[in-house]
Amino acid sequence: MLRDPKIIEFLQTRRSVTAKTMAPGKVDPMHLEQILAAGIRVPDHGALKPWRLVVITGEARRRLDETVIHPEFKAANPAAKPEVSAIEQSRLQRADVVIAVLASPVEHPSINKWEMYLSAGAVCTTLLYAAQSLGYAAQWLTEWYAYNDSMLEILGGRVGHDRIAGFIYIGEKIKKPIERTRPDPAVVISRL
Ligand SMILES: Cc1cc2nc3c(=O)[nH]c(=O)nc-3n(C[C@H](O)[C@H](O)[C@H](O)COP(=O)(O)O)c2cc1C
Repeated sequence: MLRDPKIIEFLQTRRSVTAKTMAPGKVDPMHLEQILAAGIRVPDHGALKPWRLVVITGEARRRLDETVIHPEFKAANPAAKPEVSAIEQSRLQRADVVIAVLASPVEHPSINKWEMYLSAGAVCTTLLYAAQSLGYAAQWLTEWYAYNDSMLEILGGRVGHDRIAGFIYIGEKIKKPIERTRPDPAVVISRL
């Protein structure tokens, strides 16, 4: 059996770096292609491909911050303090690359849509792990704008049909993240 102990070691020790604490840095275009290729190689019942990925880089990050995220926040929170509202001006610019993952279920006679949403989650997880395996800082975020219709539409999603599963932020790790609490196996795992 072919075994690579580094893979299980990576899975047992990997850690997300929050978008707040990462530097945008520079994601190597070749690495981005590898991350994307890994991200779409996921369990997907019936090979329905019930998801779409939108890669947000460069100037598009600023454009979406300024034309969607910030104005939508202000419209929904007219009384927000300027310093709170200011955070919304540069959300996507915290990373060099943000990959939006849209769950886009399809009609199928026997495969339940629930499984299609799970597959979209698998895309998010795999993108995250692929980026982390290459040494990047990465985090899966939804924040409020994953539930915003204007954001969904600008990403090519259909309101009432598609849903944003997450934004995978990928940037540069500038400090090692501290470990967070992890589940007690005895609490979450039972054996029969
Ligand atoms: C669907 C989903 C959405 C998330 N959205 C947020 C978010 O909006 N804000 C946040 O601080 N963490 C969010 N998280 C949590 C972090 O991405 C991450 O799980 C946590 O920081 C620790 O992850 P790690 O086990 O990879 O170290 C989300 C996680 C998932 C699975």
